[in-house]
Amino acid sequence: MKKYAIGSDHAGYEMRLSIKAYLESRGFSVDDFGTFDREKSNYPEIADVVANKVAGGGYDGGILICGTGVGMSLAANKVRGIRAACVSEPYSAKMSKEHNDANIICFGARVIGIETAKMIVDAWADSEFAGGRHKTRVDMITKLEKDGHL
Ligand code: RB5
Repeated sequence: MKKYAIGSDHAGYEMRLSIKAYLESRGFSVDDFGTFDREKSNYPEIADVVANKVAGGGYDGGILICGTGVGMSLAANKVRGIRAACVSEPYSAKMSKEHNDANIICFGARVIGIETAKMIVDAWADSEFAGGRHKTRVDMITKLEKDGHL
């Protein structure tokens, strides 16, 4: 059974609860890392927890939701081993897994509606990394992360 880590700030609170329930309805296991109320919160703190959980292993991936998805993706991508994609539609979500091996998907609760969000997580969770020439490129991202240049 696939297992995901999920988190959001206050802006993504309601959407996160809906997406968590949706993933569970699909039979996936979901660990929820908050935020646990609607009070203003700092998206880097949630990105830190979810990204380190995913980077540490034991998860098939992570889902991060804020107002735009941008802050979450910027913060998550600072954690070694994380490839967080910020998307607004399912095609990019699918490609982010197939071509980029994105291990975290981010989107914005102030940008898209819940039905598009469900389509995004479906497209990403149901796709596999294609490998081959795409692995060569993803390995370059890893080298950039490690050395700061190719
Ligand atoms: C919070 O107001 C908002 O800045 C945050 O949710 C996110 O959109 C940042 O990228």
